[in-house]
Amino acid sequence: MNIFELVGLIVILYFLANIILWIVLDADIQLSFKERFGQPISSLRGQVVWITGASSGIGKYLAIVLAKNGVKVALSARRENELKLVQQQCLAASNGLLSDNDVLVLPIDMLDFKSHDKCLKIVLEHFGSLDILVNNAGRSQRASWESIDIEVDREMFELNVFSVINLSRLVLRYFMEAKKGQGHLAVTSSGAGITAVPFSGSYLGAKHALHGYFKGLVVEVPSIDVTLFCPGPIATNFLEEAFTGNPNEKVGQSTAGDKRRMTAERCAELFAVALSNKVKLAWVGLFPVNILLYLSQYYPNVTMLIYKLLGPDRLKKIREGKSN
Ligand SMILES: NC(=O)c1ccc[n+]([C@@H]2O[C@H](COP(=O)([O-])OP(=O)(O)OC[C@H]3O[C@@H](n4cnc5c(N)ncnc54)[C@H](OP(=O)(O)O)[C@@H]3O)[C@@H](O)[C@H]2O)c1
Repeated sequence: MNIFELVGLIVILYFLANIILWIVLDADIQLSFKERFGQPISSLRGQVVWITGASSGIGKYLAIVLAKNGVKVALSARRENELKLVQQQCLAASNGLLSDNDVLVLPIDMLDFKSHDKCLKIVLEHFGSLDILVNNAGRSQRASWESIDIEVDREMFELNVFSVINLSRLVLRYFMEAKKGQGHLAVTSSGAGITAVPFSGSYLGAKHALHGYFKGLVVEVPSIDVTLFCPGPIATNFLEEAFTGNPNEKVGQSTAGDKRRMTAERCAELFAVALSNKVKLAWVGLFPVNILLYLSQYYPNVTMLIYKLLGPDRLKKIREGKSN
């Protein structure tokens, strides 16, 4: 075998190995590697993490897995009673590593932008500092592209984009002034922030917008850590609250416990790994989500061709769960 044949063989083996990993792993290769060989979640012990959307789903389980590892958490969302239940679950999971004061219940409506500053002050007064903000609160959508009322696009961006940016800017100013430009901003984006999915036009636009905003921050303030965490289909109740195409309407459908979706617990565990390893962009999901996200990231034109061949209905099934 001459040198060219050897190089060719290595390239083919490299791509084959990649494709096999895209198929068998439930996260991108970097995150899967970090889970096995990187910083453990417990390396965050003693730090303070503020999570929005912590009353249910991914945010709730992220709070629990962090608390289990001795991380102090501030829990925010609108439903105070749910937050109090999560607080109890965090304390139980911490197994004595945390005391009552280490888990703060802080109700917030993210759409009340004027309350963001007041809430940040409460977190800082309570804990004395803040290390990581996790922007997780958000709502999904199911609606055909042409049916969406522009008011829904506005509402979607108010919650999923502008509330995230407003709170992140306040926290960033605190990081710049009080922590010498050190700090970590994380966002629950979505596979829909990387690739295209049908029947969620405003949601897709909002999640893509988050990537643009935070990529801008990364190049402008390199000392700040940014994590864009992109889950594929996860078994939470997010479709209960999801937007449709009409203002003031919700999908009102449950997906919690759906076995074709990744569990919220597993998603949260991987999210915590992304945080402890300061991963910039990570995605998670059951087959074939991982492979589609890789293709979208590295071969966007090929992906759009594949999507065209699959058609919107097949894509919708993949999006709603593994083999739905
Ligand atoms: N599940 C999936 O398949 C999936 C996939 C990709 C990305 N995501 C993203 O993951 C994040 C969490 O969603 P999830 O699946 O865990 O759904 P979820 O269980 O419905 O969680 C949504 C959270 O956002 C909070 N929230 C909604 N509106 C709010 C507001 N105005 N102010 C404050 N908090 C608000 C909710 O709390 P309250 O109702 O108590 O306010 C809840 O805690 C979202 O950003 C979503 O886009 C989900």
